[in-house]
Amino acid sequence: MKLIILKDYKDVGTKAAELVSKDIIKNKNLVLGLATGETMIPFYRSLVSLINNKKVDASEIKTFNLDEYVVFDKKNKNGYYYFMNKHLFSKIRIPAENINFLNGNVKNLDLECRNYENSIKKNGGIDLQILGIGRDGHIGFNEPGSSSKSRTREVLLSRITRKDNSRFFDGKISKVPKKALTVGIGTIMKSKKIILLASGVSKAKIVHRFLHGSIDKNIPASFLKKHRNITVILDKEAASELD
Ligand code: F6R
Repeated sequence: MKLIILKDYKDVGTKAAELVSKDIIKNKNLVLGLATGETMIPFYRSLVSLINNKKVDASEIKTFNLDEYVVFDKKNKNGYYYFMNKHLFSKIRIPAENINFLNGNVKNLDLECRNYENSIKKNGGIDLQILGIGRDGHIGFNEPGSSSKSRTREVLLSRITRKDNSRFFDGKISKVPKKALTVGIGTIMKSKKIILLASGVSKAKIVHRFLHGSIDKNIPASFLKKHRNITVILDKEAASELD
């Protein structure tokens, strides 16, 4: 595992965007796994800037986002597609058919998950997966207790995740959906390369447990320690409890 510690969350985003751009330059058809959340905002800002300043051409990459709430679809303002469209897709030139997203508003959620998993496989798997980390150690929406072999599926969100995400729902936990669809840990582990970003003091404890603790089902991110090509980028605050 490669560990990079930078000054602040903006630098974390800039560094991640530089690394992603390098991989897109090497492979214009890169299959890129993406995440949402506050940590990702400076990353998408930097990536958009690199793309729009013609430092990198991302018009032929394929993207697969990690997760979406049940029963949200593309139009829901609190949904993850909406977030991605706002911060990335609407700002760059990328064909709509290259963007893959889980739809949490279909009758057959199992079929939706199976199709997504098959689509990842058909595209040759994820070349580079970007991840954030939740305060409970979740990656995507793989909450504590998730199996290391889990695939794309419907999950129940933990209270801590719903509380954290209530900031996007007028601060009301009751408004945060209880269920979501997420790409599984087994699927994430099959990515050829992973970059995990964490910033802010609220992540310091879990970052310490993730990096210094043992592999533990109760900290889903800890499974990533078995991955052969993972880079973790932290800001000083997120790294503040490391020895
Ligand atoms: C969302 C996702 C989540 C977030 C995590 C951290 O697509 O993958 O695992 O990365 O909840 O979110 P922030 O950055 O908002 O703290």
